[in-house]
Amino acid sequence: MERLLDACVGLKLLRVEVKEEGAFYGNTEISNLYLAKTSPKTQHHNLMYYSKTIYLCWHYLTDAVREGKNQYERAFGISSKDVFEALYRSEEEMIKFMYGLNEIWSICGRDVIAAFDLSSFTVIYDLGGGAGALAQECVSMYPSCTVTIFDLPKVIQTAKKYFVSSEEHRITFYEGDFFKDPVPAADLYILARILHDWADEKCVQLLTKVQKACRPGGGVLLIETLLNEDKSGPLESQLYSINMLVQTEGKERTPAEYSKLLTAAGFKEIGFKKTGKLYDAILGRK
Ligand SMILES: C[S@@+](CC[C@H](N)C(=O)[O-])C[C@H]1O[C@@H](n2cnc3c(N)ncnc32)[C@H](O)[C@@H]1O
Repeated sequence: MERLLDACVGLKLLRVEVKEEGAFYGNTEISNLYLAKTSPKTQHHNLMYYSKTIYLCWHYLTDAVREGKNQYERAFGISSKDVFEALYRSEEEMIKFMYGLNEIWSICGRDVIAAFDLSSFTVIYDLGGGAGALAQECVSMYPSCTVTIFDLPKVIQTAKKYFVSSEEHRITFYEGDFFKDPVPAADLYILARILHDWADEKCVQLLTKVQKACRPGGGVLLIETLLNEDKSGPLESQLYSINMLVQTEGKERTPAEYSKLLTAAGFKEIGFKKTGKLYDAILGRK
């Protein structure tokens, strides 16, 4: 235990005070802020997901590099073509994943929603909106919009049950599969951490559907971590891109790569905003 505590001091997760009676350990400020479960900025579920799911896929990194595909089958014995079928293998797993997804937005949700002025968009769909943290950020920042969270039926049912308050009348729900079902008309579609899950062809297929459904003058807001054009960094985005390899069929992309996907789907006037945090914003107009 002492060695573990000392290593945590080395990692700056704990601080130590050595007295005559012995060593006294306590949380550092950063641990209280991001690791304590009760902190509003806690990343507890995110880190548990890293430890119990992602880490196991990374164990097969060599196989992932050789085969160019995710390692769910080796890590969990699940042979599913759709990564989300594997991810949502039980309700418990799905809830943990949804908590984890939401937690990052307590740190950078406001930055990505404020990156562009979205005040002219009133009907907004958050495609693959999951547990709804960005929908909540949107309605709190833009008083005249409504946001519909579009996601797979079991995710929507869980979001309603555990995550989004029924008092929040400007957030509604839509159960569907964005590859198979029609996408309703709206002024703005948010796709946060969606395209990074999928190969280029599927991204263009989805964006084309969105472009067709989009009202004139409307647009699409992509929220993703952007790689430098020469892929020399940022390190976090490079590592996230490997993470997409071991877990999904997607990858992180550069601004030019996102431009290409959006242009192929018919979007114009594409703008990029780096937020200085992990996630960035890309706006395309119909
Ligand atoms: C990586 S998560 C991102 C969630 C959320 N946008 C965020 O950034 O926190 C991808 C989301 O897409 C949803 N999703 C995956 N496949 C889908 C499909 N075919 N139709 C609708 N939603 C889907 C998942 O359920 C999940 O909520």
